[in-house]
Amino acid sequence: MSDGQTAQPLETDRPTPFDPPVGLRRRAPLSRLAYPDGHLGWVATGYSVIRAILADPRFSTRRELLHQPVGGERATERPTPAEPGIFPHMDAPEHTRYRRLLSRHFGPRRVVELTPTIRRYIAEALDGMADGMADGTAGGTAVGGDPVDLVASFAMPIPALVICELLGVPAEDRQRIQAATAVLNDLDSRPEQVIDAVRSITGTVRGLLARLPAGDSSDDGLLAHAAATGGLSDEELVNLGMVLLATGHLPTSSMLALGAFVLLTDPAQRALLAADPERAVEELLRYLSILQFDVRRTALVDVEIDGQVIAAGETVVLSLPVANRDPERFPDPDTLDVTRSAAGHLAFGHGVHQCLGQHLARVELRMALTALFERFPDLRLAVPPAEVPTRDRMAVYGVDRLPVTWGVVLAD
Ligand code: HEM
Repeated sequence: MSDGQTAQPLETDRPTPFDPPVGLRRRAPLSRLAYPDGHLGWVATGYSVIRAILADPRFSTRRELLHQPVGGERATERPTPAEPGIFPHMDAPEHTRYRRLLSRHFGPRRVVELTPTIRRYIAEALDGMADGMADGTAGGTAVGGDPVDLVASFAMPIPALVICELLGVPAEDRQRIQAATAVLNDLDSRPEQVIDAVRSITGTVRGLLARLPAGDSSDDGLLAHAAATGGLSDEELVNLGMVLLATGHLPTSSMLALGAFVLLTDPAQRALLAADPERAVEELLRYLSILQFDVRRTALVDVEIDGQVIAAGETVVLSLPVANRDPERFPDPDTLDVTRSAAGHLAFGHGVHQCLGQHLARVELRMALTALFERFPDLRLAVPPAEVPTRDRMAVYGVDRLPVTWGVVLAD
C-alpha cells in the first residue's frame, strides 16, 4: 500500500450498547479499509469528511459500483445494477425524478395528517403491553408480572403499522414485511435469503397494486397517486413500494427500542425528555446513530479529500455513528445530553439522499417515547443492561429484545 500500512477489516465490536466500535473511533477521519470481497477501499469517520462526501456528486450510490464492508457470501457477490424504481441506488437525474414524486407524501404536512393514526397505534401498543402484564395484576395494580419485550410489543409494531397505512398495505401483512426486512438488514444473510425476502415484499406490493382503484386518486394513498400521476411502469411502482416498506420502519423501530434502552439506564436524562421532546429526540438520534455500515459511496472519478486521493471505483463506507461523536463538531460528544442542540447531526445522512422519511421518523419518536414514559412512569429493565442482545453486525444497529417491567414488585 502506498502509505505503508496494512488495511484492516471494519471494526464492529462495541464497548457498550450505545457507543460506536472502539477500533473505528481510533482511525483517522479517512482511512484504508479491507473489504470482505478483496476490494481495497476506505472508511470515513470524521464529521467534515463525511459531510463533504455526501454533498459531492462525484460520489455515486449505484449498487453495481458499491462494495459491502461487512458480511459473508452476500458481501463477496458482485451486485447487479438497481432495477427501475430502486432510487436509493441511483444518482441524478434518475434519482431526482423519483424523489420529486415522493417528497409530498413524506413532507411535514402529510406527517401532521398522519398524527391521529400514529397516536392510535401508540395507544394500542401501550394497551397491548399492559395486557401482557395482566398476569401480574392485583386489584387493578400491576405488580410486576412477566417481563414484556419492548421490541416486539412497542418498537416494531408502531412504525411498521404506520408505513403500511401510508402505502395502503393491510395490517395483517405487517409481520411478513418485518420478517423480510430483518433478512435484508442482516449483512450475513445468504444471497438466496435476500432474493426470497425481496420477493416476499414485492408480492405484497403487487397484490396491493392489483386492488388499486382506477383514475387519479391522490386521496387513495401514495402508490395510487404515483400510479395515476407519475407515469411509472408497474415494475417501477412495485419497486418503489418495496423500497418504502423495506426502509420505512426498521430504523425507526431500532431508534425507539435503543432510545428507550438508553433512557432506562439514565434516569436523569429520562426525566428531562418530556420538557422538550423535540430537542431530546435530535440528541438521541445523534448519540445513537443507528445506520452503521450501509451508508456507502463509490468515487466516479479520482477525488482528493482530506489530503488523500480516493481513486475512481473505490468505495467509502461512511460511519455516521463515529461522525456524530466527532469532538471537533460536538463538544463532549460521548455525553448524552437531551438539553443540548444536536442540530447538524448526520443520523439522517446529508445531501440528495438524505432520509426521505425523516419528518415521519421524528414525529413517531417524539410521540412514542413520551407516551411510553407517561403511561409507565416506573418502567425499568427486567434484565441487566449487558444481557440485552445487540445487533452489532447489521446494517441498522439496534437490539433484538428489550425485556422491561413496571409496577410494584411485592415481596413474598
Ligand atoms: C435514507 C436514516 C427512517 C426512508 C436514509 C439515510 C439515512 C437514514 C442515514 C441516507 C442513506 C444514504 O445517504 O445512503 C434513517 C433513520 C430513521 C429513518 C435514522 C429513523 C430514525 C425512515 C423512514 C422512512 C425512511 C420512516 C420512510 C419511508 C428512507 C429512504 C431513503 C432513506 C427511502 C433513501 C433516500 C434516497 O436515497 O433518496 N435514511 N431513516 N427512513 N430513508 Fe431513512
